[in-house]
Amino acid sequence: MCGIVGYIGHRPAWDIIVKGLKRLEYRGYDSAGIALINQEKGLRTYKKAGKVSDLEAFAADVDKAGSIGMGHTRWATHGAPSDRNSHPHSSGDRRLSIIHNGIIENYAILKEALQAKGHEFRSDTDTEVLIHLIEEIQASEKLDLFESVRIALKEVVGAYAIVVMSEDEPDVLVAARKASPMVIGVGDGEYFIASDASPIIEYTKNVIYLKDNQIAYVKKDELVIKGTDNIVDTPYIQELELKLEMLEKGGFDSFMLKEIYEQPRSIRDCMRGRIYPKEGKIQLGGLNEYADKLKNIDRIIIIACGTSWHAGLVAEYLIEEYARVPVEVEYASEFRYRNPIITEKDVVIAISQSGETADTLAAIELAKEKGATILGVCNVVGSSIPRSTHAGAYTHAGPEIGVASTKAFTAQVTVLTLISLFLAEKRGTLGQTQRVQLLTELEEIPALVEKCLEANEHILSIAEKFKDATNCLFLGRGTGFPVALEGALKLKEISYIHAEGYPAAEMKHGPIALIDEEMPVVVIAPQNSSYEKVISNIQEVKARKGQVIAIVTEGDKEVKKMADYTIEIPAANEAFLPLIATIPLQLLSYHIAVLRGCNVDQPRNLAKSVTVE
Ligand code: F6R
Repeated sequence: MCGIVGYIGHRPAWDIIVKGLKRLEYRGYDSAGIALINQEKGLRTYKKAGKVSDLEAFAADVDKAGSIGMGHTRWATHGAPSDRNSHPHSSGDRRLSIIHNGIIENYAILKEALQAKGHEFRSDTDTEVLIHLIEEIQASEKLDLFESVRIALKEVVGAYAIVVMSEDEPDVLVAARKASPMVIGVGDGEYFIASDASPIIEYTKNVIYLKDNQIAYVKKDELVIKGTDNIVDTPYIQELELKLEMLEKGGFDSFMLKEIYEQPRSIRDCMRGRIYPKEGKIQLGGLNEYADKLKNIDRIIIIACGTSWHAGLVAEYLIEEYARVPVEVEYASEFRYRNPIITEKDVVIAISQSGETADTLAAIELAKEKGATILGVCNVVGSSIPRSTHAGAYTHAGPEIGVASTKAFTAQVTVLTLISLFLAEKRGTLGQTQRVQLLTELEEIPALVEKCLEANEHILSIAEKFKDATNCLFLGRGTGFPVALEGALKLKEISYIHAEGYPAAEMKHGPIALIDEEMPVVVIAPQNSSYEKVISNIQEVKARKGQVIAIVTEGDKEVKKMADYTIEIPAANEAFLPLIATIPLQLLSYHIAVLRGCNVDQPRNLAKSVTVE
């Protein structure tokens, strides 16, 4: 959460920073600010509550000259969204400035000590405490900016990615990270600093991913990276695979819609080079080294948050079904704080789109300390989670910019399906004929997803009927249950309609009390092993006058007789239902949210990358 951009070089910094902040706005969008520095005018700061576009309007007429600067787009933790809590924050004498992503956990103690020394604060943020601490150290120990930052960070507990500037050293940026992402782009006589590579890609493909506890001293033609222990580290420059068009809307009204429509491609990319249907083989290069260990495991623990946790629930069904290994699916935030029993025999699978989720990272560290083998299923290449796991498989969905996860979910489910079949092959729990059959059907899924997308106009017409709903229930059985949870999460996060997902049979144990003629109930009702049972659940809803929107198999007649509205999906193997049935639910949420006038790409209060616990 929070996006940071820094630039030092020969171009106008303002334009690069504004463009970069817009790319990072998915990380937080409650306020934005920019600080520029130049020899004659010194340090100037412009900041405003609201989006980056509000900052642009506010600063329309200001002098934007300067080739050194930094900017921030905020997702509030300490202090409400407001002009004064926006970053950058300045020191007491306004000669130093900082932007920060993360949380300074011991800010209260530090603040008290600084107040006792006469420091006065202008905001409610933890970040401002850090710039005063740097100021204090610089003044009392007569150090340059780099050293003052390095010493100050030794006193800080928490997570940070920071950039600091000083009026006294107008040709330097100091950047540092601990448990928050930071990338440095290496140009020709210029450097770019950002929370991810998206603000950098159009200027250079050469990047350095800063590691935890590293501090960078950046001038336009000089870069020195040291550890907090002051020892120089040799940076590893790598080439980005990201392409600029991946970061643009490509003719769609929103990133979310573009990403929904990308799913046939993203699922295909995710399987490319990994499945060999004729041979019944699954090739997961990242897991090969652990193949022997995976043959003899007693248990798998899956840790994740939000939508990724829903993908984990799908994996539980598939791994237990095909590989016959017991699976436990845990919220990372609960797992890390409850002294879980983990042994060296356990395999932990951590699932994360961003690869930066703070709770998932902490849960990984805990499981690692106890000797478990950790596998990662992540989307963002080079992010923190894949770097902290022993092995894993990327989802290859490409950048997901809409805050609500869509293509990342189906890509996660695809990789987890492959992992379940990989395990089944290694453990001998699924014969070759079955694997050939399953992989042949799996290869067809992208085409079936394309067919699901053809229902878009029909789904829009249903959305028009339900756009004013205040509550909504989603029901499903088997792998339809995580689909119901995911459908409910999508609807609530982008349309602000209260929605709950339940196993269809659980409805009788409480939620049924909510059903009346006002209550839309979305039921996942494909023709599979639980079809008859789901039909009974639909009857129960109809008997109480609930409005049923059913996701049914193409050609279905039974459910159509009872449901108020149906959306058809193509017939497919029950195991692959989540990859197909999720698509109409994404479109339904999308259209309802748009009809309600909501910003689907940047829903209120949310951020794409949850780097605070
Ligand atoms: C929902 C959504 C969130 C994320 C969750 C975990 O649409 O996007 O629930 O799934 O914050 O994020 P990652 O997968 O990045 O660890």
